[in-house]
Amino acid sequence: MNIKKAVFPAAGFGTRFLPATKAIPKEMLPLIDKPLIQYSVEEAKKSGLEEIIIITGMGKTAIEDHFDISFELESLLKEKGKKEVLKMIQEASNLIHFSYTRQKKPLGLGHAILCAKNLVGREPFAVFLSDDVIDSRVPVMKQMVSVFNKYPATILAVQRVPKKEVHKYGIIKAEKVKDRLYRVFDMVEKPHPSDAPSNLAIIGRYILSPEIFDALEKTRHGAGGEIQLTDGLRKIVKEQDVYALEFEGTRYDAGDKLGFLMANVSYALKRDDLKDDFKRFLKGLIY
Ligand code: UTP
Repeated sequence: MNIKKAVFPAAGFGTRFLPATKAIPKEMLPLIDKPLIQYSVEEAKKSGLEEIIIITGMGKTAIEDHFDISFELESLLKEKGKKEVLKMIQEASNLIHFSYTRQKKPLGLGHAILCAKNLVGREPFAVFLSDDVIDSRVPVMKQMVSVFNKYPATILAVQRVPKKEVHKYGIIKAEKVKDRLYRVFDMVEKPHPSDAPSNLAIIGRYILSPEIFDALEKTRHGAGGEIQLTDGLRKIVKEQDVYALEFEGTRYDAGDKLGFLMANVSYALKRDDLKDDFKRFLKGLIY
C-alpha cells in the first residue's frame, strides 16, 4: 500500500520561541526566505505524498493564507513585472492538495494526530513535525517510504544523540536489523541518561499505521491532560512491528533558538545568492 497522506501537527504554542510566536505560528518562522513548514511540505511532495493535512489551532491562520492563492498580491506582482517572485509565490500555493482541521485545545502531539483520524481514514500515513528541519541529499521521508515498501509497518526516524542529551527526546530500545535499520521493542520519553536504553532519539518524521488512532484513543491523558504520541506508540510496539531508520542527513531543531540560528547559518552558506557575502561577514565576526 502506498503512503498518500501526510499529517502536519502545527497547533502547539511554541513556548520556546516566545515572544516571537505569540502572534506568529512557529511553523511560519522564516528559514532564510521560506517559512519552516514549507520545507517539510516540499519534502512531502518530493517523497511522493499527495495530500497534506495540517492540524492548526488558535492564531494559526497565517499557515492557511501562506498556502492559499493571494489574488491581490499576484496581480500586484504581475503589474510590476516581478516574474521571479510571482513564480515563487505561486509555487507555494500549487505545491500539493491541502486540508486543514483544528485541534481545539493543545492537548499534546498524540491528541493533535488523533484530530486527523477522519481525514486519514484506515490507511498508513506520514507525520511531519516541521520544526525538525532536515538537510539531506535524499528527502528523509523518501528514505522512510523506501523502508516502508520493504517493511510495511510503523517506521520512526531516529538519530544518535550525545548521552547527556537523551533527556530531551523519546529514546528507543531496539535491535539492529541491518545498516541503519532497527527493530524497536520499546521506547522511553525523555529518560535520565542512566535509564536510557540507547542513544537513538526519535525525530519528527513518522510513518504510522491507522491502529495508532485506536491506541491514542485508549491512552489516558497524562500530566497536564495531554495525550502523548509516545504512549500510543508504546501500545503499538506490543501489537505490531515497529522499525526505526537512522536517516542520512543533518537535522536542526528549528523550534529551539540555537537550532534555528544554526539552520539559518547552514542554509545561508549553501545559497548561491548569499554564501559569498555571508561568509565574508562571518569571517569578519571571528577575531
Ligand atoms: P513541541 O513539543 O515542539 O511543542 O510540539 P510546541 O508547543 O510546538 O513548542 P514548545 O516546545 O512549547 O516551544 C511538537 C509538534 O507537535 C505539535 C507542535 O505544533 C509541533 O509541531 N503540537 C504539540 C500540536 O499540534 N498540538 C499540541 O497540543 C502539542
